[in-house]
Amino acid sequence: MTGTKAKILVVDDEKSMRDSLHLLLKDRYHVLLAGSGREAIEQIRKQPIDLVLLDIRLPEIDGIEVLKLIKGIDDAVEVIMVTAVITVGKAVEAIRAGAYDYITKPFDIAALTEQVEKIMEKRLLARENQSLRQLLESDYQYEKIVGKSPAIREVFRVVEEVAKSNATVLITGESGTGKELVARAIHNRSPRQNKLFVAVNCAAIPENLLESELFGHEKGSFTGAIERQIGKFEIASGGTLFLDEIGTLPLPMQAKLLRALQEKEIERLGGGRPVPVDVRIVAATNGDLKAETKNRRFREDLFYRLNVIPLHLPPLRERAEDVPLLAEHFLHKYNHEFGKKIKGFKPEVLPLLAAYDWPGNVRELENLIERLVVLTQSAQIDAAKLPPEVRGNLPALPGEEETRFRDAVRKFESAFIKQAIGKAGGKKGEAAKMLGIHRNTLLQLEKKYKIK
Ligand SMILES: Nc1ncnc2c1ncn2[C@@H]1O[C@H](COP(=O)(O)OP(=O)(O)OP(=O)(O)O)[C@@H](O)[C@H]1O
Ligand SMILES: [Mg+2]
Repeated sequence: MTGTKAKILVVDDEKSMRDSLHLLLKDRYHVLLAGSGREAIEQIRKQPIDLVLLDIRLPEIDGIEVLKLIKGIDDAVEVIMVTAVITVGKAVEAIRAGAYDYITKPFDIAALTEQVEKIMEKRLLARENQSLRQLLESDYQYEKIVGKSPAIREVFRVVEEVAKSNATVLITGESGTGKELVARAIHNRSPRQNKLFVAVNCAAIPENLLESELFGHEKGSFTGAIERQIGKFEIASGGTLFLDEIGTLPLPMQAKLLRALQEKEIERLGGGRPVPVDVRIVAATNGDLKAETKNRRFREDLFYRLNVIPLHLPPLRERAEDVPLLAEHFLHKYNHEFGKKIKGFKPEVLPLLAAYDWPGNVRELENLIERLVVLTQSAQIDAAKLPPEVRGNLPALPGEEETRFRDAVRKFESAFIKQAIGKAGGKKGEAAKMLGIHRNTLLQLEKKYKIK
């Protein structure tokens, strides 16, 4: 690597671990150290960092949580999770949250340095491609929201307006319309921009864990509470708390949330004294909360408390003029991500995209473009590669593409299975459990891929 040294941040609560990683990396990189999630977040805020080596098990704020917060501040930073033990569940969670990879302790020094080296090279390449990205910073983009339809311009206007205040915003819209993106834009344009944006997906957390997730808990407050952990309200203090899929919040939690919003203080589970919190709330739902209050699945008082400023995101089919713009935007994004140089779309493609009704909205469009970028080997994306529902009655996908796709899936599947068997020390039953499949299925797959 040329030029100034790349920056690596090592986050581990054990000093010996920090010291040895520091020793290992300091000749080639500028190494920064943090002993907790909070310290890590402060470092990330202060300066651009290339790579974070992040312990999964950290006191107060769990490593995966720290990962999400880091990605919220700078989604370009690469993160490798470091851990003594990892379950498949944790690994999947980490990768989903944006981790590049994970390594297990005690680690193989050569493998670690090679991994770090690989990431740094990738970043160097990405920097060279940055001119591409600048192309996108056009008039048709506000924060990271792309669009030029009157409907989306109205959204930009409202965001700009409400960002200045502390008022609670309730974002509504079908799945994939950009609710989270808009919530982040509100935070980024607000006076709270230098504090954290913390997202909680109310639908993804089991009911019995929700209270601890939001308000935290003291050590010993329930079986499994081995350490004190602070909740999302406290983590977001000074910043913005995004309550996603708020409509799924169980009624008892609705009461507790209402109380927290009214009193501006929370109580940790098993903790006596209330803790004051200063958070701005942005909530989102793809349902009709007003209707839910009528059938008593959602508290009316909480609804009014949240719906101070309603902000509706129209479905993509009602703003078809944004479709070509978004398609180009995602083409650049995935060209960049996969190191491809696809120049654009054949002329017949964009009208087909604009005519389709996108039940999954912008997310569906993004996923489609990502897939097309992977599958396209030529300079332009052509209509034959579109899925039938988008393509209408144009001729079918050539068999060759189909085969290539299947090959890729096979390769991935067999590598994944091999890895699991290796991790389980050859014990098939255990490997199957790790993969979440039946032992017989594993044996069949093993035979299919001729794994020894
Ligand atoms: N106007 C837009 N410009 C660029 N990207 C967008 C736009 N709208 C949505 N996206 C992208 O589409 C994807 C889905 O957006 P987001 O997660 O904000 O939707 P959502 O409304 O929260 O969906 P869900 O209800 O399913 O959670 C994201 O990757 C987001 O970056
Ligand atoms: Mg969402």
